[in-house]
Amino acid sequence: MPDARRFTSLVSALPASVPFVAPEALERRRGERLELRLGANESTFGPSPRALAAMRTELERASWYGDPESFELRSALSLHLGVPMEHMVIGSGIDDLLGLVVRTFLEPGSCAVTSQGAYPTFNYHVAGYGGHLETVPYRDDRNDVEALLDAARRHDARLIYLANPDNPTGSWHDPAAISALLDALPEQALLLLDEAYVEFAPTPLPFDPEDPRLVRLRTFSKAYGMAGARIGYAVATQRTIAAFDKVRLHFGVNRVAQAGALSALADRAFLEGVLEEVTWGREEYARLAASLGLTTLASATNFVAFDLGTPERARSVADGLLARRVFVRTSGGASLNRLVRVTVGTPAERRRFGHAFQSVLS
Ligand SMILES: Cc1ncc(COP(=O)(O)O)c(C=O)c1O
Repeated sequence: MPDARRFTSLVSALPASVPFVAPEALERRRGERLELRLGANESTFGPSPRALAAMRTELERASWYGDPESFELRSALSLHLGVPMEHMVIGSGIDDLLGLVVRTFLEPGSCAVTSQGAYPTFNYHVAGYGGHLETVPYRDDRNDVEALLDAARRHDARLIYLANPDNPTGSWHDPAAISALLDALPEQALLLLDEAYVEFAPTPLPFDPEDPRLVRLRTFSKAYGMAGARIGYAVATQRTIAAFDKVRLHFGVNRVAQAGALSALADRAFLEGVLEEVTWGREEYARLAASLGLTTLASATNFVAFDLGTPERARSVADGLLARRVFVRTSGGASLNRLVRVTVGTPAERRRFGHAFQSVLS
């Protein structure tokens, strides 16, 4: 039937794209269940039992909207981080908050800078809000901070996106490097620091909530094992948070997720256990690679990038694993497409992955 309704020119001009093919879509395509889900950097250690109990209890109140101010969670985070709660907003994961930052800071046509092959959801929002994206290559499998700055200067960028620790490489810049980046930032530019994996990394940059040069994003999806609950937070100046409040989806974070995050934050012992297990797992993956004549990139995250040498070999190994019902991901980006990225699973999952990996390579 002919349809006279018009999409906006922005939406009409966008290519059809989704940043990720989900494991569920792979299962539907293949007509079989995946056995190992190690491609999305979810936590295979699950949420803390205390978070689970809190979420079960809160389900009874699922007929109520969540608190749009997430007051209790922001209070707890304030104590946890030593940052006043007026400097925080809760969103339904970093993916949601990335959109909020882009919408707030990027005029249609103005420029944002990221690394080529970095976490793609940022790019997706830049396109969706009509921004212009400039990318710079990775250097030695790390974000090239100098190149990001240089591109920001040349293109009068409003936003620089940096995931630290990084996905897909797992690499990490220490607080001194981030401070130096902030000091060199062009006046009109904001550093959008995506700290999805920060709990797995060494000491992070100290908080300075009055610093107008950056917005920091964190999540309960990774170390806290609550990716499906969709909850994360932004830390920024009060002025920036007030700007987010003008346009954010006020009831977008459900009450079950808020209750779970609150209890997850209080369960320090569980988090420590996950971090310890992930450290073991990263070392185990490095030994597995070495035993097969391969290398891995040093990782400050809950995943490890295996270096297969060429994009063709990386693709064929990922396909071989999928044929064995093991879900992993290859990386985009010219210099990174030789990498296969594997989440650190439980000891049993790591053993099963090791067998599948050996069998594909042989
Ligand atoms: C760098 C990075 N940022 C953000 C996310 C998504 O975080 P969330 O689940 O909070 O939306 C991921 C997930 O893989 C990630 O790797």
